[in-house]
Amino acid sequence: MFDNSISLAGEVALVTGASSGLGAHFAKVLAGAGANVVVASRRIDNLHSLVQEIESNGGSATALKLDVTQHDSEKEDSISQVIENTENIYGPITVLVNNAGVSDSARFVNTTEESWDFVLDTNLKGAWRVAKAVANRLLALKLKGSIINISSILGMRVAIGESAYAVSKAGLAQLTKAAALELGHKGIRVNALCPGYFKTELNADFFDSEKGRAFISNTPAKRLGRYEELSWPMLLLASDAGSFINGACIPVDGGHLVSSL
Ligand SMILES: NC(=O)c1ccc[n+]([C@@H]2O[C@H](COP(=O)([O-])OP(=O)(O)OC[C@H]3O[C@@H](n4cnc5c(N)ncnc54)[C@H](OP(=O)(O)O)[C@@H]3O)[C@@H](O)[C@H]2O)c1
Repeated sequence: MFDNSISLAGEVALVTGASSGLGAHFAKVLAGAGANVVVASRRIDNLHSLVQEIESNGGSATALKLDVTQHDSEKEDSISQVIENTENIYGPITVLVNNAGVSDSARFVNTTEESWDFVLDTNLKGAWRVAKAVANRLLALKLKGSIINISSILGMRVAIGESAYAVSKAGLAQLTKAAALELGHKGIRVNALCPGYFKTELNADFFDSEKGRAFISNTPAKRLGRYEELSWPMLLLASDAGSFINGACIPVDGGHLVSSL
């Protein structure tokens, strides 16, 4: 008989950028499937509320402060502290959702050095830092794991005013494949979800505007995504249901990428 249940019982999941939007949703989904979840980002108050919500629904979660851009080994290193604290609380991280991300829209010719560095350092280098650190722990402990990078359909196509963001997400898609190639045979799968548009703090101003509504009405689905439409794709990649999926970048976009030329 085909077993259609998905359980993450015994898994330890780290979700970066869990203080709002998609990251908070992913944390709830993983906890709902039985994983012990560490929710991490800079806004610790938001994380505490999320932990309360998860616990009141019977799940297990812990909030830890994390800045994915903080990497100077001379100073306090946010990433290695989160990994160490997680191991002390739950054990080694076996599922990583590299979700922390920012955008800073500007036309290509107006993009500043600061803006470029801010977006690339968070979305690409930050994800690389966390994935590398988690993968090294899994290798050292000879454990299997699943790394899920949250890229974007803007990693596959471009849009006006989003050059830095699109480059960061395309880089993350390539990082996903490169890491998958090297880690797959060690039992560590590395995949990416590439969401289309979902209303979050990142883009709410735009989608609440006339221009935003017009933009969405021109997409194949003619609507924004609903958070729950990312739940099963996340669980597929996080669990053994996706045991032979490695190096994949999966769009969840209502067909936005196949919009007509
Ligand atoms: N919404 C969409 O339509 C969409 C589409 C495609 C891809 N995505 C991607 O999905 C991910 C989540 O975005 P969202 O839409 O849910 O936006 P959001 O609500 O603004 O969430 C972004 C999260 O990233 C965290 N973050 C930002 N900088 C960080 C840093 N230096 N260190 C640690 N955490 C940091 C923020 O937490 P703190 O401020 O507390 O640190 C926040 O929790 C992003 O990678 C985004 O690019 C979103």
